[in-house]
Amino acid sequence: MLSKKINGERLWDSLMEMAKIGATDKGGVCRLALTDLDREARDLFVRWCKEAGCSIRVDKMGNIFARRKGKDDSLPPVVMGSHIDSQPTGGKFDGIYGVLAGLEVIRSLNDHNIETLAPIEATAWTNEEGSRFPPAMVASGVFAGVFDLDYGLSRADLDGKTMGEELERIGYAGSEEVGQREFKAFFEAHIEQGPILEDEEKTIGVVTDAQGQRWYEVKLTGQESHAGPTPMLSRRDALVGAAKIIDQVNRIGLDHLPSACATVGLMQVFPNSRNVIPGEVFFTIDFRHPNAETLSAMDHELREVCQKIAKDLGLTMEFEQIWYSPPVPFNKSCVDSVRKAAQNSGYSHRDIISGAGHDACYISRVAPTAMVFVPCEDGISHNEAENADPSDIAAGCDVLFQAVVEQANTP
Ligand code: GLV
Ligand code: MN
Ligand code: MN
Repeated sequence: MLSKKINGERLWDSLMEMAKIGATDKGGVCRLALTDLDREARDLFVRWCKEAGCSIRVDKMGNIFARRKGKDDSLPPVVMGSHIDSQPTGGKFDGIYGVLAGLEVIRSLNDHNIETLAPIEATAWTNEEGSRFPPAMVASGVFAGVFDLDYGLSRADLDGKTMGEELERIGYAGSEEVGQREFKAFFEAHIEQGPILEDEEKTIGVVTDAQGQRWYEVKLTGQESHAGPTPMLSRRDALVGAAKIIDQVNRIGLDHLPSACATVGLMQVFPNSRNVIPGEVFFTIDFRHPNAETLSAMDHELREVCQKIAKDLGLTMEFEQIWYSPPVPFNKSCVDSVRKAAQNSGYSHRDIISGAGHDACYISRVAPTAMVFVPCEDGISHNEAENADPSDIAAGCDVLFQAVVEQANTP
């Protein structure tokens, strides 16, 4: 295996330069998908890739591919990447680390004058977070044929703006068809976003699987009325219904420990006035578990308790599962490449299951795929305080470098 290393300082500097785009006062990043800040970050990524000698292609979902030629350029490429968009109170590493690690691999191949048999591509997938445009991983999903193009382009934010409109507006509605081409392999480097690697003092997480997710949207409708004269016993308070459901969501999560996660993260209350009993509440539910059967049992329970609560309180309910992403086993040969690369470089490592969703989950349906995790401070992510150690960031990229070169040189 390759003994050469990537340039950790250059990777770190690029991450810090990129983190200025959308920088928040608390040291994080707010770079929502398809905003002007997303455009600015995309432009910088594209400029750096061109400076590294890559040719650039953008597809109709705004996915960016930067290509470094292979000895046999007709072979399918080995592709590395992640996402540029962030959460509203996101950090400097979630997503963008995997994108810039891909670029750093290409820069290092240039430094060391290494020609690979298959071409190499660094990619940035559009709207991985699903924060502005639900669901998550939309554009890699279109690439993998999970969603059709019309579905992807018509995803709308809370103001009704669609991904299609916003891609046009920021100049990233590309001309290339989405998907319909082969990858030899796909690798995504990412911070762990949880505490396991740090707790166990391991540098590299060899990601074998990703857990499944179900996303729901719920609208409860009761009756708005005056907070003073309306007796407690004759109210139909939609927010009380939502509160009871949230408690049950949390209980269902706790009942399926150690692996279940259950979250209500977004809520809108109408009319949101302190002396009006809330007549309508909209909220989301995020359920996760590595086992599809358990996730489905959680789903059944949720539907039952929601119906009961709405009925007991005289509320009408619209309940929709808007997204199901099943648990994902990654490709054995690619996972082995990651493990071997960690071993070869002398980095401590352990196998790990991803708690978060990643573009790699969908790409794994159409290409042999694996992921490389590195620790993040206190396991915190989706938070402006998200942080990582420069030496771990470099180590993850070294592993990516070796795994990618191995796959690209295997006929
Ligand atoms: C994406 O960040 C997710 O929600 O896992
Ligand atoms: Mn991410
Ligand atoms: Mn994220």
